[in-house]
Amino acid sequence: MSKEVLVIGGSGDIGSSIATLFSDNCIVKSTSRDELDLSSDKSIKSFLSLNKKKFDHVIFCAASNNLCSFKDANYSEIEQSIKVNLLSITEILHELIKRNFINTEGSIVIISSLYAHFGRTKRFPYSVSKHALLGLVKNLAIELSPKKIRINSVSPGFINTKLTRKNLSSEEIKKIEEYIPSGSIGNPIDIANVVYFLCNKSSNYINGQDIVVDGGFSCGGFMGVE
Ligand SMILES: NC(=O)c1ccc[n+]([C@@H]2O[C@H](COP(=O)([O-])OP(=O)(O)OC[C@H]3O[C@@H](n4cnc5c(N)ncnc54)[C@H](OP(=O)(O)O)[C@@H]3O)[C@@H](O)[C@H]2O)c1
Repeated sequence: MSKEVLVIGGSGDIGSSIATLFSDNCIVKSTSRDELDLSSDKSIKSFLSLNKKKFDHVIFCAASNNLCSFKDANYSEIEQSIKVNLLSITEILHELIKRNFINTEGSIVIISSLYAHFGRTKRFPYSVSKHALLGLVKNLAIELSPKKIRINSVSPGFINTKLTRKNLSSEEIKKIEEYIPSGSIGNPIDIANVVYFLCNKSSNYINGQDIVVDGGFSCGGFMGVE
């Protein structure tokens, strides 16, 4: 029987690449902000109450990344980022697990970021929320083990998506590429392939981990990138 897959943030470049890859042999439910706005309690509650499906794999790919430094951030901006990037995931998982809506032997994958491992100017709320996701993954790996559900995250480096193009000019991207051992920024499919692997039986013994997929960029830290 085909596996059921939920891709939250499936309208994004990485999310749609994941949804397309899984749709070859799975039934994929993919959400955009119109159907499930992660900044809105009302939208999250409505999505959860309307959903009657059980899923084998749940993948979170949505995020808010508005450039913002600690010095200039106001509380509502920080709160909004943490809500979209962390609390909404917690709430959705809490409800799906409580209602037994994730099947035994299922797999949860959260798209985190290199900013879960590093800080950088103007990434304050984004980086804080992505760091916290690693804690969520480790704790849930332990708590979900009786249900035989695995949870892992994937931390992309620089990937060619609209989010990257919104925050970096093409000159900045070229400069960054000089520091990537693999020679260029990545493509959404590079992330989708790892997510697919983490939902597959062949990754059965990987649990509670974060996999960095950055073409080797982080091997040199952020040296030279302003
Ligand atoms: N691109 C990179 O270099 C990179 C690097 C590290 C990590 N990541 C992570 O990869 C994931 C996907 O990013 P992407 O690069 O594919 O960006 P993207 O193409 O801009 O996609 C962003 C996704 O987030 C959704 N989203 C944003 N705010 C939302 C909200 N309030 N409620 C519901 N959905 C919301 C968007 O929905 P709509 O389309 O409906 O607006 C879209 O599906 C994110 O978690 C991001 O942090 C990306």
